[in-house]
Amino acid sequence: MIGVFDSGLGGLSVLAAIARALPRADLVYLADTAHLPYGDKDDGYIRQRVLTIGRHLVEQGCGLIVVACNTATVAAVAAFRESFPDLPVVGVEPGVKPAAQRSRSGRIAVLATESTARSERLAQLIRQHAGSVQVDVEPCPGWATRVEALALDDPDFAGEAHRHLSPLLAAGVDQIVLGCTHYAFLCPVLEPIVADRAALVDVADAVARQCVRLAGADAYGQGRLTLLATARPERLQAALPALGLHALTAHLHGAARLVIT
Ligand code: DGL
Repeated sequence: MIGVFDSGLGGLSVLAAIARALPRADLVYLADTAHLPYGDKDDGYIRQRVLTIGRHLVEQGCGLIVVACNTATVAAVAAFRESFPDLPVVGVEPGVKPAAQRSRSGRIAVLATESTARSERLAQLIRQHAGSVQVDVEPCPGWATRVEALALDDPDFAGEAHRHLSPLLAAGVDQIVLGCTHYAFLCPVLEPIVADRAALVDVADAVARQCVRLAGADAYGQGRLTLLATARPERLQAALPALGLHALTAHLHGAARLVIT
């Protein structure tokens, strides 16, 4: 069984890629909806949530854990790996490396939560992989919460997204990293703004490929999906069709359940 978690709905973008790559794997998705958003919390709080949820998923029998959240990965994946040294753990970090490699203009941007944007880990990724390009880090407060509210076609948001992206595009940014798993669901709004001036960089498929490499026997189950949430599990289940994730609905094994952790 493969355990995948996030603060809420964002990690479903990663889960969908994993389900495509490993259609026979049994998947458990846990949304920590009682504690979202993570993006405005401090590292200690996020670390404690990651350890608690990770432990819960291991206790359920997951042999591979995917931290489907950039904020949780940058703040806590190292601590989580230290606590479970024998467990394969896949984190999700902003795709700075592919963006830097693909950039022709020499200027890229990272959209992220406030917590990820100010993190030492992101600064380190930029130093390691983007030494030859200029990187604009753009915190996007409230964007993940907007996805949670499924308020995706709100015209106010299009205006807000314009205000964030237009100066970056005007400055010549040609790769825009979606540094939060929730932002994949904002692509229908972001793509028309970006048009052919820049590419949106999402790492969900790369994360799924890493899962294929590490899954071992966990790749082979009955292709069942279990949904868990620390609050309002019914909202998590209802979000699948609302986010266009019909293929995941087909894998659903029973109704989404509440977990108290
Ligand atoms: N989906 C998360 C990420 O990738 C965090 C969103 C939030 O809870 O603020 O960063």
